[in-house]
Amino acid sequence: MKLNRPRGTHVLYDKDALAFEAISSTFRRVAKNFGFTPIMTPIFEFSQVFTRSLGESSDIVSKEMYTFNDRSHESLTLRPEGTAGIARAYAQDGLSQHSPFKVYYEGPMFRYERPQKGRQRQFHQLGVENIGGALVYSDLEMMDLGYHFLSEMGLMKDCEILINSIGDEDSRNTYKDKFIDYLSPYVSELSEDSQRRLKTNPLRIFDSKDAGDQKILAEAPLLKDSLNAESLRIRDQIFEGLHRLNIDFKVSDGLVRGLDYYTHIVFEFVTTKLGAQGAVLAGGRYDHLIEQMGGPQTSGVGFAAGMERLALLSELDGKLSKDIMIIPIHSDLEMEAFILSEQLRKEGFSVFTHFSGNLSKRMKKANSQSVRFTLALGPDEIKSGNYKVKDLASGEQFEVSAKDLASRLKASL
Ligand code: HAM
Repeated sequence: MKLNRPRGTHVLYDKDALAFEAISSTFRRVAKNFGFTPIMTPIFEFSQVFTRSLGESSDIVSKEMYTFNDRSHESLTLRPEGTAGIARAYAQDGLSQHSPFKVYYEGPMFRYERPQKGRQRQFHQLGVENIGGALVYSDLEMMDLGYHFLSEMGLMKDCEILINSIGDEDSRNTYKDKFIDYLSPYVSELSEDSQRRLKTNPLRIFDSKDAGDQKILAEAPLLKDSLNAESLRIRDQIFEGLHRLNIDFKVSDGLVRGLDYYTHIVFEFVTTKLGAQGAVLAGGRYDHLIEQMGGPQTSGVGFAAGMERLALLSELDGKLSKDIMIIPIHSDLEMEAFILSEQLRKEGFSVFTHFSGNLSKRMKKANSQSVRFTLALGPDEIKSGNYKVKDLASGEQFEVSAKDLASRLKASL
């Protein structure tokens, strides 16, 4: 019986894997350009790292985590996102001495969601966090970084930036009271999930996709009308900064984001090209996450982008071409071809080797592997030290001495 891969997972190979590499190298370049350094945190953490920070009533914690007990009966969870683990590391490892702690990361994340185009159970994120950076400028820099990254990927033309302020805790408490008052006549009409959230965390009702809930929410009071003076000041400075950076954005009053750790500014870079999975890159500010992890009060801001979604949107031609393939015309010359391949590799060429099949099969392989040059090696070539090389891109053939081979190839690549 054949074994299948689990639902919502995929194998990235060849073109797809190369597209990921290209996305990742653009991302790293842009992140370094903004002065960020790489960080790698564990793929699993104690479950509390996520339950405490993302919120018990969030979709992720309530229904999407891969949680299991290990052999010492510790509850562990495969990370559904990267921010909580970085905050945990910052608090636990005393990284505050490095403040502002500006890091970028990438890797697999796990959420038990209903798989569809652009939504997997194992997916990949690349992300950036700035912990301990100055308010307003670190937020602006974060959005600027996201903007530069997507622009370099050629994707900004299909994306718009949605932004909202969810204010500080005081503002949200004022809002919660108004919101609960507004909802009270509709309680029995709300979906079961939303009725539960009304008791645990009313703001999470905004995550509901239920059509009935959406109708009720359409008339709800707006969070922006409950923002206190300090929250308004921060929000307006950020809007002004974005104008100064010439970054267009749209204020989205209903944007609250599905994770509990956010405060003040939240944002999403959204495309219309991926249906319901429109959020390509998303993030915001978090003022209490480090404290929740047992560290000193330190604010942070960050974003993450889904690599699968970026790959679907990008028109990167992920084909990796190889410079040359040496094709022995008899099997007793395979060792000679193998050694010549090794010499060319030392000269810095990417050399594809394949030692089976007849001459025509090997030529076909060269074509399917996007090899640029083939060199047919026979006894005459070995004796004379003159090689016949074919350029598969132009169809041209040329002869070149062993001594000049490398420089001749370099000139044409
Ligand atoms: P998030 O909005 O949950 O935020 O995820 C960020 C991005 O990851 C989404 O916009 C989407 O592109 C991608 N994504 C999420 N779930 C899936 C999935 N099941 N399949 C494919 N792609 C997916 C966070 O994770 C926060 N940690 C972002 C952040 C960083 N906030 C502050 N710092």
